[in-house]
This record gives sequence, structure tokens and C-alpha cells, in this order.
Amino acid sequence: MAISRTAVWKHIQTLMAKGYPIEATPHHGYRLQHGADVLDHHRLTEVLKDNTLITTCHHLTSVNSTNSLAKTFVVEGSPEGTLIVADEQTAGRGRQQRTWYSLPQKGVFLSLTLRPTFSLPTAPKITLVASVAIAKTLCRYTDARITIKWPNDILCEGAKIAGILSEVMAEGQEITAIIVGVGMNIAPMASVIDKIPYPITWLSAHTTNNIERIEIIKTFCDNFQEGYQRLVATGDCAQDRTYVIENSATLSQNVTIQTHVGTKIGKAIELLEDGALRLQYADGTQETIYSGDIMP
Ligand code: BTN
Repeated sequence: MAISRTAVWKHIQTLMAKGYPIEATPHHGYRLQHGADVLDHHRLTEVLKDNTLITTCHHLTSVNSTNSLAKTFVVEGSPEGTLIVADEQTAGRGRQQRTWYSLPQKGVFLSLTLRPTFSLPTAPKITLVASVAIAKTLCRYTDARITIKWPNDILCEGAKIAGILSEVMAEGQEITAIIVGVGMNIAPMASVIDKIPYPITWLSAHTTNNIERIEIIKTFCDNFQEGYQRLVATGDCAQDRTYVIENSATLSQNVTIQTHVGTKIGKAIELLEDGALRLQYADGTQETIYSGDIMP
């Protein structure tokens, strides 16, 4: 290779400063440690090359919020399938203006831009499809019980392990883009437990295997591609709806839901085809709830 030892050493120092665990062995050179949980543009592009939804990958060591960055990219014309992944978010956003704590390398923080041609009422089905893709992904790495709490929380043994923030950009009734933001807790985050108003957990607490984030990202993107393309082709998400019904933390439960028109207290009796939740009140009357957050 036409490159001096000093130049190689300098590149290695730059990579190590970025956090790459590189071992130096006398007379042999340098080696990236096996199982090193490193994300970069090149590795992401390589593992996702057969995914027919992902068109471009962006990787950032640190960003305020991948969803906020995705919105900027949308305004600049980013195509469907633009994936943004970050090692850390300094202002990660959850639902209800909550903070999504995104400590360096402790989770998967990604946003995927979609440019669907379907109409606005179909948009909530995207969250349902994403919740199934996350649940199936986590099930691949743990035998712990993974359930879906309507509409956007993924629980592991009852504690929150992942969440979805789907943001729709529209002009009138026409969808410009949907940004699907996904956060999955992977490694211990003990330092933020006290700041979060509900029980949380992370994948490493439920498996003895050392799973690299890149593998989890690939599995999620492949699962999501399947569900999304089915939704685009048929307009429905019947298969994913069945999965949610079978793995729901919400159905048959008495719930308190915070909606934009107030708090609703009732029993969750049905997940409707459009992703909405049917509630039955104590007096026997029923109501369909299209969006809201179930209180812990
Ligand atoms: C929630 O459960 O409240 C939704 C959490 C969504 C977090 C993800 S992390 C990647 C993307 N960027 C953000 O700022 N939020 C989402």
C-alpha cells in the first residue's frame, strides 16, 4: 500500500479518538476488536445494500435529534428511504414534548423518511407497522416478553424498551413526508432512570449475547421494509394488526388515555383496522380514540 506508517498511525489515532476500539499488535498492525459496536456510513450502507426501501444512509456521532434533522432534509428534497442514524442525541424528542434520553452508544436512534402516495387517514398505520417491526426485531435477540402498548410504545417484561415518534409533514390533505423516528434502549442507562416518569429497560438486560447496534438496525429496517411495502401495495396492515392484537399490552385493560381533547378512562376493547383504539366506558358507551397516550 502506498501509504507511510506515520500516515496509517495518524488515521488510526483519528479513529480511536472517535471511539473505535482498535488493537495494535507488534509486527502485525492494527485490528478492529471483534464485536466492536461501531456505526459509520460505510458499514450502514453495506449492511442495508439489499434493503429495497433504504436509499441513502447518514450517520452522525452526535446530533440534536435525528427527526429534526430528517425534517430539514425533507425540506431540501430528501427521497423516500433516507435513513439517519446517530450514536447520541443531545435533544432527542419523545411524544408529549418529552425528552428521549439518548446517551452515546446506549441505544439505537434513527429516523426514516417516507414519501408515501397514500392519503392522510392512512398515516397512523405507519406507527402500527413500525411498532411491529420493532417488536419482531427485539424478539430476535431476547426470549423476554415483548409487547406493544398502543400506539407507540414497545415494552419488555412490562417496562418501556422502545418508542416511536412518527411525524407527518403535509400540505393540506396531501402528505409531503412521514418521518418515522425510532428509539430503542440497548445498553444500561441507569443514570437517566430517575428522570423518566415510567419504568424503562434495555435489551442487554434480557440477553447474554453481545449484540451490535448495526445488526439491530439492519433487522429493524428489513422488518419495516416488509410491513411498509405491504401497506403501500394493499393500503391495509391486516397482518401487522393481527400481530399487535396477539402481543398487545393494552387490549382488555382498563386504561387512562391523555388525548388532545382531555383524559379518557375506559376499557380498551378493540384495535380497529385503521389503527385506532375502541374504548368502552363504565356506563357501557363506546368511543374510538385515534391518537393519545396511555398513562403509565
Ligand atoms: C416516545 O416513545 O415518546 C417516542 C420516542 C422516539 C425517540 C426517537 S430516537 C430517534 C428519533 N429522534 C428523536 O428526536 N426522537 C426519535
